[in-house]
Amino acid sequence: MKSLVYIDACMRGKESRTRRIAEPIIDKLSERYEIIKYDLNQLPLTIVQEDLIQKRTHGDYDSMSLSWAETIRDADRIVIAAPFWDMSYPAALKNFLELCSIFDVTFKSNDKTCYGNCRAEKLLYITTRGMDIATGDPLEQATPHLKALSWLWGIGPMDVIATQNMDYVSLDEIEEKVQNAIKEGLKLVKEW
Ligand SMILES: Cc1cc2nc3c(=O)[nH]c(=O)nc-3n(C[C@H](O)[C@H](O)[C@H](O)COP(=O)(O)O)c2cc1C
Repeated sequence: MKSLVYIDACMRGKESRTRRIAEPIIDKLSERYEIIKYDLNQLPLTIVQEDLIQKRTHGDYDSMSLSWAETIRDADRIVIAAPFWDMSYPAALKNFLELCSIFDVTFKSNDKTCYGNCRAEKLLYITTRGMDIATGDPLEQATPHLKALSWLWGIGPMDVIATQNMDYVSLDEIEEKVQNAIKEGLKLVKEW
């Protein structure tokens, strides 16, 4: 069975609308992929600081982040669920991605530039935004970074399932947006 890495960066437990959208989509995908889930609330994420960079420079990688990076490298698909925070995504996700961005694992380089070393041909990013800000709006700085990083890691095109204006509408409208996003996601992953 092919494998799928699911990075859950939803930080509000059962309250998370982003997670509510992601879960049925992941359930559907579990019919065709072995799901390897990283719940960022549960992982001991150390910040990438001088000490860690020094160690890595001398080839000393901690086994935990190395195994995350290798799992991402070898996955056939990647799904990221993360709410829109501070015009981008939660720092825990950036932290996790930095820990997994390991030379000769998720990317390599030649004498001119870096290039990707991951197998996944597709990445799905699922998000919900409080304000009425659309994917691709200059104020929306999550997708540009995730697209750039997936280029660095050699991961194929990124699909986005997003809802917006979640914090300024009625509960019924929120529910409608969640259900529509689930429908859109389930339709997308039929061929994914
Ligand atoms: C810490 C924090 C930062 C947020 N920053 C933004 C923001 O910059 N722009 C925005 O539109 N919404 C922002 N929001 C609102 C969330 O994007 C919105 O409520 C979203 O639906 C939350 O997703 P969740 O239900 O999965 O946690 C923020 C919410 C939190 C808790």
